[in-house]
Amino acid sequence: MPANLMTKAQMKELAEEASGLKQSGGDARVKEIANRLLYRLMQVIDECDVSMEEFWAGIGFIAQTGKNNEFGLLVPGVALEHFLDLRLDEAEKKAGIKGGTLRTIEGPLYVAGAPLSKGEARMDDGTDPGEPFVIEGQVRGEDGNIIAGAIVDLWHANSKGGYSFIDGEQAPYNLRRRIETDEKGRYLARSIVPNGYGCPPLSCTRKAMNLMGRHAERPAHVHFFVSAPGYRKLTTQFNFTGDKYLYTDFAFGTREELVVTLERVTDANEIRNAGFNRPFARATFDVVMTKERAGAPKTEVAREHVIAA
Ligand code: BEZ
Ligand code: FE
Repeated sequence: MPANLMTKAQMKELAEEASGLKQSGGDARVKEIANRLLYRLMQVIDECDVSMEEFWAGIGFIAQTGKNNEFGLLVPGVALEHFLDLRLDEAEKKAGIKGGTLRTIEGPLYVAGAPLSKGEARMDDGTDPGEPFVIEGQVRGEDGNIIAGAIVDLWHANSKGGYSFIDGEQAPYNLRRRIETDEKGRYLARSIVPNGYGCPPLSCTRKAMNLMGRHAERPAHVHFFVSAPGYRKLTTQFNFTGDKYLYTDFAFGTREELVVTLERVTDANEIRNAGFNRPFARATFDVVMTKERAGAPKTEVAREHVIAA
């Protein structure tokens, strides 16, 4: 069948009717967005001459993604979560907000309510044979002021790339902690070095990535939510230099400013002082928070935390 069988006017008319634009009532915002989405979708179908089989296969894929609770994986995989971050960056620039630590995606694997402690925490339960890890840093404001009492909520994968709660193999809240910064604005976490996450082998997301000739892997990373009264909530991560997938993260989470070089510590005194019995890796990740101000785009986002298949 040839492409471009329809006129723009026909598709416009149909999309407007289907989204209720021609009627009163309903939700104006929903109508507006539905109309634009439908019009563009009709255009793509017509331009690409999408067959009936292709269309229904696409609907089946979306249905299966929903059944698997996988949209949280697929959305970053097609760069939409990163796109939302880029838009927020621009909106902040316009509002005159600058100088804070860069944000990057939250991803779908956060679990709220991790144990809270002051100053420092041990994140792993001692069963992971991975490389011991110290993550430390200081939280400051954009003017360089120390922020004591900030909550650093951090989470990461284990040495196999799995997340507690999601992989069903780890103790609850393993590798998930909230640390309140001390009077110097500092936090310190003892843990094990994570491995990168890969989408489940049979997931719709991996299938979609492979159909696009892409892999479905993330480089190793550590996630952060950082919050403090009067400051804008920060959602970010850091990655490690040298990671195989650093610059091809399937979820578009890597940002150059958030790449950290792990220091390998082999000195016996330092190992003992850190509370380990073997050499360890150390990452320093300082955070700069920006002040909340009226009229600025929100960074505290209500979001259901969906668990991947
Ligand atoms: C993650 O943070 O590990 C993640 C982010 C996006 C998609 C899948 C996993
Ligand atoms: Fe992650």
